Amino acid sequence: MRMVDLIVKKRDGKELTKDEIDFMIKGYTKEEIPDYQMSAMAMALYFQGMTTEERVHLTMAMVQSGDQVDLSDIQGIKVDKHSTGGVGDTTTLILAPLVASVGVPVAKMSGRGLGHTGGTLDKLESIDGFQVELTAERFNQLVNEHNIAVVGQSGNLTPADKKLYGLRDVTATVNSIPLIASSIMSKKIAAGADAIVLDVKTGSGAFMTDLEDAKALARAMVDIGNGAGRETVAVISDMNQPLGFAVGNALEVKEAIDTLQGKGPKDLEELCLTLGSQMVYLAKKAKSIEEAREMLKDAIHSGKAIDKLKTFVSSQGGNPSVIDHPEKLPKAEYTIEVKAKASGTINRISADEIGTAASLLGAGRLTKDSQIDLAVGVELQKKLGDKVKTGDTIVTIHSNTPNINDVEEKIQQAYTISDKAHYAIPLIYDIIH
Ligand code: URA
Ligand code: CA
Repeated sequence: MRMVDLIVKKRDGKELTKDEIDFMIKGYTKEEIPDYQMSAMAMALYFQGMTTEERVHLTMAMVQSGDQVDLSDIQGIKVDKHSTGGVGDTTTLILAPLVASVGVPVAKMSGRGLGHTGGTLDKLESIDGFQVELTAERFNQLVNEHNIAVVGQSGNLTPADKKLYGLRDVTATVNSIPLIASSIMSKKIAAGADAIVLDVKTGSGAFMTDLEDAKALARAMVDIGNGAGRETVAVISDMNQPLGFAVGNALEVKEAIDTLQGKGPKDLEELCLTLGSQMVYLAKKAKSIEEAREMLKDAIHSGKAIDKLKTFVSSQGGNPSVIDHPEKLPKAEYTIEVKAKASGTINRISADEIGTAASLLGAGRLTKDSQIDLAVGVELQKKLGDKVKTGDTIVTIHSNTPNINDVEEKIQQAYTISDKAHYAIPLIYDIIH
C-alpha cells in the first residue's frame, strides 16, 4: 500500500477502507509516513469529509496507536463525561461525586491543560493534601470500594491524535467536524470508557459558537461512539455566559461544594442534573431518565452527594474538613468590586472576556509550564437578564496583586448593560442520541 494512492483516493472523494486507514495511522505514528503526506491527506479529508464508517475506523486506529486504560477490574458500566470546554465549567467536580453517590462507578482520568482556569486536577489540588497520582491498582481499588477516583493522566494515550492535532493546527485543518469528532472520541475511548456523555457547548464562549455547528459535532461524536460500541449521548448546552458564578480554581471548588449541598447556582445545578441523569441511565442504575434525575435530586437533598465528596477527598489524602469549612481553601489577598457604570438590564456577558480576566489574574496556564494561582478568580454577582443600578457590584475580583486595572477593564468590556429587555435563552438546547 502507498500513502500517495490513499491521498489520490480521498482527494477524488472516495471512501477509505479500514485497512487503508489503519495503514495510514500506523505509518504516521511510526514516522514512516511524513508530515507532508499527512498534511495533504488532512486537507483532502477537510474538503471531502468522511463517512461514519471512516470516522469510526479513524477513531479506533488512533485509540490503538498507544496505551489503552484497562478498567476491566472495576465492576459495572464505566461512564465518562467530556465537555468541549467553557468558562467557569465546574461540572466534573460536581458530577463525579453526585453520580458515584447513586452507585455509578466513576474512574476518571483528568488533565491539567491550558485555559482560563486550571483543569479538574488543579482544582482538586486546592484541597489540602489531595493526591492525584495513584497506581493503577490503587485507582481500581478506590473505584471498587467507593465508586470514585480521579487520577492524573499517565501513559502514552493516542499518540497519533497528538501528532495529527499538532499538524492540523499549522495546516488550517483543525476546523473539520469529522477530524474534531474522531480526535475527541479517540481520547475518551482510550481512557477506558464503556459509555460516554458529552457536553457540547454552544454560544459566544464556546468552541462552536453556532448552534447548528454544535449539533453537527454532537451528532458526529454520538455516531462514532455508538459505531465503536460505546453508547454515547450528547447534551447541547449554552455558553453565552459563564456557567454558575465562580471562575477560578478554589472558587469553583467552593461552588461545587455549594451545588452538592443544594445551594449552588441554578444553571450549574440544572446542567449537572441533566448530564448526571444521562450518566446514571447509561450505567443502567435507573430505568428511565426521569428516575435517574429523581435519584440525583434525592442524593443532593439527603446529604448523600456531599458525603460522597468527603469520602472521595479523604480517600485520596485530602483534608475532608475543607468541605464543611470552605474558608480553609486558598484565599486571595485582595477582593475588588467592579461596579455597574449604568442602570438597566444585563444584556450581554462575554464568557470569553470573563475567562481572559481570570487568566490575567493568574488562574489559568498560558503555557504548559506556567504556574497557576489557585486562589484567584472572579465571582459574577450579576448574570444575563439581571437588573442593575449604577454603582451596583457586578463582579467581585479575587486577586493577589492590588493593581489590576487591566482586569477591571476586561470585565467592564465583558458586560453590556442597556434599557432593552433581555430575552431568556435556553440552558439546554438539545439532547442527541
Ligand atoms: N479538541 C480536540 O481534542 N481535538 C480537536 O480536534 C479539536 C478540539
Ligand atoms: Ca462556575
